Amino acid sequence: MISSEAAPFAKTGGLADVVGSLPSALRSFGDEVAVVIPRYGSIDLKNARRVWDNLPVHFGPVSYPVSIYQAPADYPVYLVDCPPLYDRKGFYGESGMDYPDNHIRFAVFCRAALGVARVLFRTDIFHCHDWQTGLVPAYLRTTFATDPTFLGCRTLFTIHNLGYQGLFPKTALAEVALDPAVYRPDGMEFFGRVSYLKAGIQFADALSTVSPTYAREIQTPEFGFGLDDCLRDRASVLNGILNGVDYAEWSPQTDPHIPAPYSAEDLGGKATCKRQLLEEFGLPAAGTDRPLLGMVSRFTRQKGTGILAEIAAQMVAEDVYLVALGEGDPEYEDFFLRMQQEHPGRIAARIGFDNGLAHRIEAGADIFLMPSHYEPCGLNQIYSLHYGTVPVVRATGGLDDTIEEGTGFKFAEYSGEALLAAVRAAVHAFADRESWQRMMRRGMSKDFSWKMSAAAYSALYRRLLAR
Ligand code: ADP
Ligand code: GLC
Repeated sequence: MISSEAAPFAKTGGLADVVGSLPSALRSFGDEVAVVIPRYGSIDLKNARRVWDNLPVHFGPVSYPVSIYQAPADYPVYLVDCPPLYDRKGFYGESGMDYPDNHIRFAVFCRAALGVARVLFRTDIFHCHDWQTGLVPAYLRTTFATDPTFLGCRTLFTIHNLGYQGLFPKTALAEVALDPAVYRPDGMEFFGRVSYLKAGIQFADALSTVSPTYAREIQTPEFGFGLDDCLRDRASVLNGILNGVDYAEWSPQTDPHIPAPYSAEDLGGKATCKRQLLEEFGLPAAGTDRPLLGMVSRFTRQKGTGILAEIAAQMVAEDVYLVALGEGDPEYEDFFLRMQQEHPGRIAARIGFDNGLAHRIEAGADIFLMPSHYEPCGLNQIYSLHYGTVPVVRATGGLDDTIEEGTGFKFAEYSGEALLAAVRAAVHAFADRESWQRMMRRGMSKDFSWKMSAAAYSALYRRLLAR
């Protein structure tokens, strides 16, 4: 697996959770997996072993020094080390700006990953994730098309989010030594630029995305980000496989980040989690009788922050509390801080990335908000189910596939009004404690572990190799 993130080594979102947990699940099907990620500055090499000294990547006259470390894990996790490219503060950029050499950073990463397959881990299937790895299929189809090392290898490209495309000027192709012939509409040309995401879509042997509904949605202009036509062309190899989750990491019975454990049989500890969460956010303890809404999210347009802004005041008028954790677009960070100022003692926000707090919000909230504009899969609503925190979601992508009447509240139209109606329905239902607890328990009994989805990936790998 080639990915720009994998928990616990490097995480900004759900991609890391998936690549951090799917490999173990695949092993029970007899699949041997190695994971390749960049060695970012934040990854400590103290416990890692240097397993390959010199694996330089040459792009014409320019060469990038690369060495490979192996991190301690149950399966090989290879870290591509090239300090001038990855030893920086961010993964993709800083202060809201992408690094200007991202086309080089992730091209070198893709080439180094192919190098790992050459010298460290014989590979049958390259399972690539998101735009950062889109050049793996591209190099395999061009530069290495006749290279005996890769003969018979297959590629699977998984789209976790069509909204991030890796778009660069045409001149990038020469800088990363790609055959100029790929610059065509059925290659990686995209409205006058090159798209690393499109490279993955066009050149991989098979495609997948992270829920069945999102697999259908991305073939429509509304969700296709300009790529719906080429996704429709590739529909026969496009699979929708719902993400699984790692309950070893996300279970209220065993979670080391929460103040009191609880389970479907004994919900007692959840009240403690709620009380302490209110306290942690500086909200009045008197709030424990009223519904506490939680949010953990990248603060971007995708996540529905826009419609939340429209109705914040009306929501608060329902006598609810809201805690939110996230970081992202400055405009949305400001919005949450402003809401906190406008509704003191009701709304509290933390800007930043804090895994422990994310767990405490899952455990301490009564209701979890995910009003996403679009959502390829979404993991937080699945974690919420397991924590007895009833999700209010927009019926899109994986949110639609994982939440049903009886485990959560869904609304269809992307509008503040529709969100408010769903919040009101949840708040109303919360008042009947007995039926609310039945709803919590129904959610807690759902099984979204990797079993089924890992089986689907494993079967797909086998179909690819048999081709
Ligand atoms: P996405 O990948 O689109 O951000 P997902 O719901 O698939 O959305 O996954 C988000 C993951 O990232 C979850 O594990 C969530 O807890 C975590 N996460 C998101 N924002 C933060 C944050 N600010 N602090 C801690 N964890 C976060
Ligand atoms: C992306 C999507 C999210 C999905 C995650 C893992 O970041 O936005 O919906 O759950 O990838 O696949």
